[in-house]
Amino acid sequence: MRLIIHRNHEEASQWAAFYIADRINAHVKSGGTPFVLGLPTGSSPLSIYRTLVTLHKEGGLSFANVHTFNMDEYVGLSADHPKSYRRFMMENLFSHIDIKRENIHTLDGMASDQEQECRLYEQAITDAGGIELFLGGMGSDGHIAFNEPGSSLSSRTRSKDLTQETRAANARFFDGDISKVPATALTVGVGTVMDAREVLIIVSGRHKARALHAVVEEGINHMWTLSCLQTHPRAIIVCDEDATDELQVRTARYFKDIEQETLRAYRERAKGQV
Ligand code: GLP
Repeated sequence: MRLIIHRNHEEASQWAAFYIADRINAHVKSGGTPFVLGLPTGSSPLSIYRTLVTLHKEGGLSFANVHTFNMDEYVGLSADHPKSYRRFMMENLFSHIDIKRENIHTLDGMASDQEQECRLYEQAITDAGGIELFLGGMGSDGHIAFNEPGSSLSSRTRSKDLTQETRAANARFFDGDISKVPATALTVGVGTVMDAREVLIIVSGRHKARALHAVVEEGINHMWTLSCLQTHPRAIIVCDEDATDELQVRTARYFKDIEQETLRAYRERAKGQV
């Protein structure tokens, strides 16, 4: 796992956005298959989405050959409900870029047969060739998507009851009223995220520091579902300094040193190509 620490949320987001843009551009240049991108909602990815939109508007990034799969959706909210994740994605990303509507995949929170909806979602991911890069955030209890503490680390897409902590954290999107936050969601599983060829997680703020410590420094544990990343062959957590508050000083220093080395190696390679 790489842990990339930036001074603040904006710098971490910029790094992540440029990383995603590079991966899409390199993939598209290599020809052929679409780039399959997994996406989250929440406040963590907003700045990344803004930068991706800017890159697109400036002409440096096209989503014409990108297929997306969102992580989750609230049960009981229709696609056009002002608080649905589908609507969030339309407003913050999809309606500003050149993605084809038929290449956008989101779970249907109104599906009458939720099990079938989840099964078909997994099938659609497989049919698309699997997810190349899954971007995600992390809940303050260390959850990924809506895989709350105690979720199976091999879970697939399914419905999950949300914890009070998660509903309270998301109440800010529902006029601060926890009773308006749906109690259930459809979500990709931990296993679904782990199947992605690469996973990139953005984490910001002191309120995430305890979870980041558990995910990075403690063992793999279903109570902190993002700790699953420890066994992923290509996982990156990009974070701000505040989120590292509960890490041991030497852990943060270790990961910073490694990234300095990586940067030096990139520079050397770049010089060699001049
Ligand atoms: C929700 C979402 C997650 C997101 C988390 C953190 O639980 N299902 O995908 O990572 O919130 O949200 P935020 O980025 O707003 O802190």
